Amino acid sequence: MVASKIVILTGAGISAESGLGTFRDNGGLWDRHRIEDVATPEAFARDPDLVHSFYNTRRAQAAQAEPNPAHFALAWLQADWPGEVVIVTQNVDWLHEKAGGTAIHMHGELSRALCANCGHRSPAPLVMTPADPCRACGARATRPDIVWFGEIPYRMEEIADHLHSCDLFVAIGTSGQVYPAAGFVTEAAYAGARTLEINMTDSETSAAFDDHRVGLASQTVPAWVTAQLDGVRQL
Ligand code: APR
Repeated sequence: MVASKIVILTGAGISAESGLGTFRDNGGLWDRHRIEDVATPEAFARDPDLVHSFYNTRRAQAAQAEPNPAHFALAWLQADWPGEVVIVTQNVDWLHEKAGGTAIHMHGELSRALCANCGHRSPAPLVMTPADPCRACGARATRPDIVWFGEIPYRMEEIADHLHSCDLFVAIGTSGQVYPAAGFVTEAAYAGARTLEINMTDSETSAAFDDHRVGLASQTVPAWVTAQLDGVRQL
């Protein structure tokens, strides 16, 4: 059997058991903050202090968080699967990397700062303020390197190529409410991939998936990865 290519989309649900809040579960981030106050370019132009404060809190939480068995299982799959395993994450934490894996961060990363004046990227300090000068151009215009609502996600052409060339597409811990990520299952299926959703509950896009595994990611993802790798070993 030619080892197949697997594309895995992760959402906030994979990091929930690492203590990082999700957005739309009860009490989630969007229950406690208005998107238009903290997650749009207009919000940053209007009140950069408030936006920096929102992301400084999330950056500090991410710095304290540890990967859970779901992150480690995906890193193990990336290391041991005979084919290619590409993780595309909507998450801006670095738990996939901390677990030893790699990921395409389509919504940016809390660990990076972006200069709104010259586009220079640099490691983000734990606490960012509007007064931080850009290390390249000196302008006091650095922002979190996060893709806000109304902005174009990163590396979309590369992601589309992966979706059009994979044999299996798996979505883990995402509510399927934000595009373009929510449309990935349809794009992969149209190109011939089988599709699997791993979540605690149904999502907006559950009907589009061939298969489902329901439960906590820290339990369902290691079980699924073990089954994948055992299946290959038996060939
Ligand atoms: N195990 C598995 N799934 C879980 C767990 C868990 N322990 N905890 C929560 N979930 C699932 C929920 O059932 C839900 O479907 O994770 C999903 C979280 O959904 P959201 O909070 O909407 O997060 P996400 O889908 O990643 O949001 C997408 O929206 O606000 C933007 O940019 C932000 O990247 C984010 C995007």
